[in-house]
Amino acid sequence: MEACLVCKEFESEKSTKMKKKQWKRRELLKSLGVAAAAAPLAASSPVKGMSMEGSAMREIPLSSVKRDRKPGKPVTAIVIGAGSRGWGAYSSYGLKYPDELQVVGVAEPIPYRRERMAKAFNIPEQRQFVTWEHVFEVPKFADALIVTTPDDLHYGPAMAGLEDGYDLLLEKVIAQTWEECNDILQLTEKKNAIVAVCHVLRYNAYFRKLRELIDAGAIGEVVSVQHLEPVERIHMSHSFVRGNWGNSRKSNPMILSKSCHDTDMLRWLLNKPCQRVSSFGSLSLFREEMAPAGSTERCTDGCAIERECPYSAIKLYLEQRAWLQHLTLEEVNKNTILRELKNGPYGRCVYRCDNDVVDHQISNFEFEGGITAAFSMEALSSYGGRRTRIFGTEGDLFGDEQTLTITNAISGKQEVWDARKALKDDSGHGGGDHGLVHDFVRAVDANDPSLLTSTIQVSMESHLMGFQAEASRLDGGRVREISLQQQG
Ligand SMILES: NC(=O)c1ccc[n+]([C@@H]2O[C@H](COP(=O)([O-])OP(=O)(O)OC[C@H]3O[C@@H](n4cnc5c(N)ncnc54)[C@H](O)[C@@H]3O)[C@@H](O)[C@H]2O)c1
Repeated sequence: MEACLVCKEFESEKSTKMKKKQWKRRELLKSLGVAAAAAPLAASSPVKGMSMEGSAMREIPLSSVKRDRKPGKPVTAIVIGAGSRGWGAYSSYGLKYPDELQVVGVAEPIPYRRERMAKAFNIPEQRQFVTWEHVFEVPKFADALIVTTPDDLHYGPAMAGLEDGYDLLLEKVIAQTWEECNDILQLTEKKNAIVAVCHVLRYNAYFRKLRELIDAGAIGEVVSVQHLEPVERIHMSHSFVRGNWGNSRKSNPMILSKSCHDTDMLRWLLNKPCQRVSSFGSLSLFREEMAPAGSTERCTDGCAIERECPYSAIKLYLEQRAWLQHLTLEEVNKNTILRELKNGPYGRCVYRCDNDVVDHQISNFEFEGGITAAFSMEALSSYGGRRTRIFGTEGDLFGDEQTLTITNAISGKQEVWDARKALKDDSGHGGGDHGLVHDFVRAVDANDPSLLTSTIQVSMESHLMGFQAEASRLDGGRVREISLQQQG
């Protein structure tokens, strides 16, 4: 039977449009170094194909590194909270690039941490403060504040800093309640300030590439996502049981303190509003009723099972010297570590802490256009490293924070991109820590927030996803709406 002329024309117009669209997409992908690959489909699955050894997969070339303008003069900053993040993650950028960032003041109650910063940046005594409040007793003397205090001390310095006209590099979680987050946003806008939220994953090579590939249509239109955050059980025991983030009243629930990076990443990658969430989860392992017979309050109290316990503080901190950055150690030696284990939070038995945050949580998010994202935080994994599978109309994508594998459903081609070869910076979070400061100093220097991808304005929604996921979890998984207007 002959096809009708109108239909034929329509089909031919449709096909021309499709071809044009595909051509545009090919050009875009080419510019990302993707389309040139024309290897046959590897016999192995995308997961097996993660290893390049002996694989028939074509490797996607790296994006060229953009060389951009440095700030005209160093941006000056005051570090509020000179602990692991304030010192190790962000000030280290100023030590590496003194022509871009200078730390000119510090507020920190622990003397050795305050002195370490003062010495490294030659900070005069009158600009060394014991607590954040003291910074605001003197007139503004820097461009920006780096707010890296514990979670319950973000709101105070952020509000005071904005009031005084500082720009902010503000650690996540923005604040402990949605209302407080909103206060900070309102004051940011009123003061026309720049506030960068430390969603550092947005600034590393791996996640940037992932976003580029999705934007370029490497798998067509995204339909759904399956995202896993395996925390790793020793990390869980250190940070979310014994450490600063174990108790949700003192810090935040797990979906915010750990997983706000993940809600943010989902929102950023999909680039569409999130509309609803339902969540379940609980704390299974690190509870008093799970404590083995013979265990004691502290690992140093003569615990009968200390030698076989995988969470022994003696093994972890004293013998392996791991995770020491959060212990208060003016010097790292046997005596100071033992003193901390006998008196501080990190010597406590993991089954006898004041922790209440969950060790497993699943959250289902629905985005505009019916895109679904199933997110799972698993703290009891033996490994770390986020795993993400994204399914689209023309293919799918798998990533494990090291490599990205794209399978094209139409051509059958499979390609891989290796982030390990792209990393130019050895800072934390795959280079994201310094990547963020790099963009922040440029944004402050040029007074241009568009040079940042994680302003407070764009970070609010992913925080709301976390607040609403937690509300759902506490309410038996009931669906919660996510609407910035309604929550406004
Ligand atoms: N972006 C990320 O990926 C990431 C990773 C880890 C932690 N964080 C966040 O960074 C923040 C800091 O975490 P951290 O790991 O550096 O903790 P930390 O405990 O190592 O550092 C916090 C510092 O703040 C100091 N402090 C306490 N009270 C103070 C006060 N009144 N005035 C000034 N300083 C005070 C503490 O003494 C400590 O040195 C937290 O909010 C945390 O959730 C973010």
